[in-house]
Amino acid sequence: MSKEMQENMQVDRANEADIQRAYIEKCREYLLDKEKELGRPLTACVNTFGCQMNARDSEKLLGILEEIGYKPVETEDADIVIYNTCTVRENANLRVYGRLGQLHKFKEKNPDMLIILCGCMMQEPEVVEKIRKSYRFVDIVFGTFNIFKLAELIHTRLNTGSQIIDIWKGTDYVLEQLPTDRKYKFKSGVNIMYGCDNFCSYCIVPYVRGREMSRPPIDIIRESERLVADGVREIMYLGQNVNSYGKKLEETEEAKGSQDVTERVTFADLLKELEKIEGLDRIRFMTPHPKDFSDELIETIAASDKVCHHLHLPLQSGSSRILKAMNRHYTKEQYLALVDKIREKIPDVSITTDIIVGFPGETEEDFEDTLDVVRQAKYDSAYTFIYSKRTGTPAAKMENQIDEATVKNRFDRLLATVAEVSHSVSARFEGQVMDVLVEGLDDHEEGLVTGRLKSNMLVHFKGKEELIGQIVQVKLTECKGFYYLGEMIN
Ligand code: SAH
Ligand code: SF4
Ligand code: F3S
Repeated sequence: MSKEMQENMQVDRANEADIQRAYIEKCREYLLDKEKELGRPLTACVNTFGCQMNARDSEKLLGILEEIGYKPVETEDADIVIYNTCTVRENANLRVYGRLGQLHKFKEKNPDMLIILCGCMMQEPEVVEKIRKSYRFVDIVFGTFNIFKLAELIHTRLNTGSQIIDIWKGTDYVLEQLPTDRKYKFKSGVNIMYGCDNFCSYCIVPYVRGREMSRPPIDIIRESERLVADGVREIMYLGQNVNSYGKKLEETEEAKGSQDVTERVTFADLLKELEKIEGLDRIRFMTPHPKDFSDELIETIAASDKVCHHLHLPLQSGSSRILKAMNRHYTKEQYLALVDKIREKIPDVSITTDIIVGFPGETEEDFEDTLDVVRQAKYDSAYTFIYSKRTGTPAAKMENQIDEATVKNRFDRLLATVAEVSHSVSARFEGQVMDVLVEGLDDHEEGLVTGRLKSNMLVHFKGKEELIGQIVQVKLTECKGFYYLGEMIN
């Protein structure tokens, strides 16, 4: 078996955390020697190219690097640079190749620099082959299943001097006990599940992130409590399809060992438990799948004081015919009925979405259906994507791939419709006083701070740095489209 393609690697679970801590220590010895030799601290930069889950992985990677002793920096002229890659669309992929040339230049000036590539793109064998052949200056390559091995891989690289490639095809093991470095003090993401079993026909995620695997509730609760004790007030619970949470949980070993799991725990059950955590003020989650959105979940959100009334509900297409080809398991009518039900039970809800334009075989009529749903669902905002052909997915082999000019034309029309709809709904809270979690100083205007409503919309208002991380009451004086201007109420 080649080192690079070890299937479902077995890990000695009991000892793995200790093993990795030992590697962290060994790397620290190297770092201290090197710092003495150079007379300066060693720096590390971790760049995220993908989604919130990718960002959470980056926090884990930076946590390990900081534990070794690296000083985190934002710039890429650092002693270690990690690109945590994404491959969901081709342009995410191309961006990485585009920037590697620049990294090579930094390395020519600093020969001890380590360039590390990881994340979803590295789970594609063609990508790894290309890096092995044409990007010899890359020091370490690993994938999505073994990020906890970072210190071990660095140690191996330092001792062998050759390019290290370690990609697993899948795993049923995730090591959670290593340190993380959070980007924000007051908010954080927490994984509730890994992987995806949905196989939407356009999507590469199930191939690069592996099978769906839920974390035991007790682990999620403990991690949340630790974060709250450390100053976190808002948590975003992460998974590719959060409302199928718990489906396979009862079969896993972790679940058997946990006293809290007796029967199937649903996502709604989990939310109810998380609601009880004192000091946790806001609960968000991403991403729910419309096909699994139960009445129980709607009721739970409606009854909760903490779960934010913002739902990201990916549509992908408004045409039932295309939705079928996408393997989404809902129709236009079912989606709209779900939106109606949600709005009835949670009247102040903000709904946002993801839409793909130009899926193979999409006709003008199909596209009109998408515009129709955008108008009827009254989205606060929408992420719009041009269909990107991903090798290995069923849609890549479909006939009738849509020509570029048609897609561009539809994409522009979709953007205009989304803007029109979101403009008409986003001012609906004008004049009201609402809770705002202050996130930082305003980038554009001195004396202002920026925060978020529960609906996720940004608000700018007069305030000082000390407010960062606090929840304050703000009167929403004027809607500017994507954000509000406001005044803090004392
Ligand atoms: N699990 C989530 C998010 C998946 S990736 C979900 O089901 O919604 C985020 C978004 O990227 C998707 O919602 C989809 O709109 C978009 N996307 C995924 N694959 C794509 C592709 N091949 N081309 C264009 N957009 C894609
Ligand atoms: Fe991709 Fe569909 Fe899974 Fe989302 S639910 S990650 S779009 S396969
Ligand atoms: Fe990209 Fe991987 Fe997320 S492909 S969208 S980083 S799961």
